[in-house]
Amino acid sequence: MKKKLIIDVDTGVDDAQAIMVALAAPSVEILGITCCHGNTTLDHACKNTLRVLKVCNRLDIPVYRGCAEPLLARKLHAGDFHGKDGLGDAPDPDAPGLELLQKEKAVQAMIKLVNENPGEVTLVATAPLTNLAVAVKLDPSFPEKLKALYIMGGNTESRGNTTVCGEFNFVADPEAAYVVLDRYTCPTHIATWEFSCRNSLPWSFCDTWLAQDTDKAHFMERISCHTRKMVQTERYQKELVAGPGFNSCDTYALAAAIDSSLVTESEEVAVTVELEGTYTRGMMVLDYLDQLDKKHKASIMKKVDCEKFRQMLMDALK
Ligand code: RIB
Ligand code: CA
Repeated sequence: MKKKLIIDVDTGVDDAQAIMVALAAPSVEILGITCCHGNTTLDHACKNTLRVLKVCNRLDIPVYRGCAEPLLARKLHAGDFHGKDGLGDAPDPDAPGLELLQKEKAVQAMIKLVNENPGEVTLVATAPLTNLAVAVKLDPSFPEKLKALYIMGGNTESRGNTTVCGEFNFVADPEAAYVVLDRYTCPTHIATWEFSCRNSLPWSFCDTWLAQDTDKAHFMERISCHTRKMVQTERYQKELVAGPGFNSCDTYALAAAIDSSLVTESEEVAVTVELEGTYTRGMMVLDYLDQLDKKHKASIMKKVDCEKFRQMLMDALK
């Protein structure tokens, strides 16, 4: 039986890479893609998601509009790391229009799809967690009907890529991240910022990956040109936890959701999110002392099988 996924995205470049890995996996059925504010505006995130589906000839997959802003925090975009439009500002005259979006809103769609497939849906979250927080507020039983939740977000050593101590997805909506880590008690797997840095791939692999002579590779080359320039900047180099490398953050969460054997090392620990700290708002807190008295433990990814991960990426652009 195919693995049923819902992917919640703020399609930027690495979200696009994650979606394309999922589309190339024979064992996966994407029930829907829900969009959220984050890397870029909600409209751009929706449009970029449609662009990715078009280049993969999969516009049959429903795309839904979600939350355009965080629960409480001021709206935050990832600067122009992903480009103003979120996908490298690469001209795309034939881009599909927003009229292709579903009329149903993302959170209602998430709840409906999971109610139609109780216990079978794996939810992959590669954006700020606003849609997921609203979903559990609308339907408190939503998390228990999920098979599993995979998140790209947060941090384990207070390393920030957006604020001093904050990873973008959690900092963009700390209240939503808090609600999700508190209320989603289904099996939860987290690909954090430091984990993604420590498992990044050599740039030489990225060159090989993009050199494939396919429409998908040409598309990826165009949309990732801007971020490849941005990662060379001094500001980005300071964020790096483990030296330079091709870090497709979101794809680690997605790939683990597709094939759990990808993760070769992880640890189980209760987690929450700081909401008050002057420097630490949005930081993920790991409760090794069990002082938070939280029964639910998240599985924090530590290491992946890099060969398997490379193959999944190569297959995504074939
Ligand atoms: O910190 C990395 C995360 O922020 C990724 O999801 C990337 O797409 C950005 O949204
Ligand atoms: Ca993302």
